[in-house]
Amino acid sequence: MSEHEDELADAQTESPSSLGRRRALSIGVGVLGGGLALGPLIPALGYILHPLSNTITSAGEGFIGVGGRGQFGPTIPIKVDLFADRKDAWSVTRQVKIGSCWVLEREGELKAFSTVCPHLGCSIDFDTEANAFRCPCHRSEFDLDGKPVEGPSPRALDTLEVKEEKELVAIRYRRFRQNISEKVEV
Ligand code: FES
Repeated sequence: MSEHEDELADAQTESPSSLGRRRALSIGVGVLGGGLALGPLIPALGYILHPLSNTITSAGEGFIGVGGRGQFGPTIPIKVDLFADRKDAWSVTRQVKIGSCWVLEREGELKAFSTVCPHLGCSIDFDTEANAFRCPCHRSEFDLDGKPVEGPSPRALDTLEVKEEKELVAIRYRRFRQNISEKVEV
């Protein structure tokens, strides 16, 4: 009898439980072999898929135009939305809203205050009756210079850089850490 015929004969006489063990063993060896073969490919896959899981935003690096100088006066702040291109790994989305700010003139100079509350990040409103900035979440209140006058905010409203060029106004948008007394960019 040949070796192959011997093996066949063995398999026919083997009990079902022994056949099951043999199958489980061969599946385990297959999985282990497959894992070892894929091992070197994992860093390469990570490299290829990396951009899908990691969005990089470079929007708002520069100044963003918000309109003519004439629209901003000393009494009522104007809220402006800031738009910029958002860059992901492989694509650019044009003109995405990246934030907002309040703009007004103080002693002849334009000031821009981020609408993000320095306390816990709610959106700051302007109350025309009280002539003050207010946060609806925990009732922080700020005067027209952005100074806190009431509530839990640990610092003044965050100012943003303003540039005026040929009667046009541009603002550099930034975000800052919340609930700390210093203004620290994130
Ligand atoms: S988030 Fe504005 S006062 Fe708390």
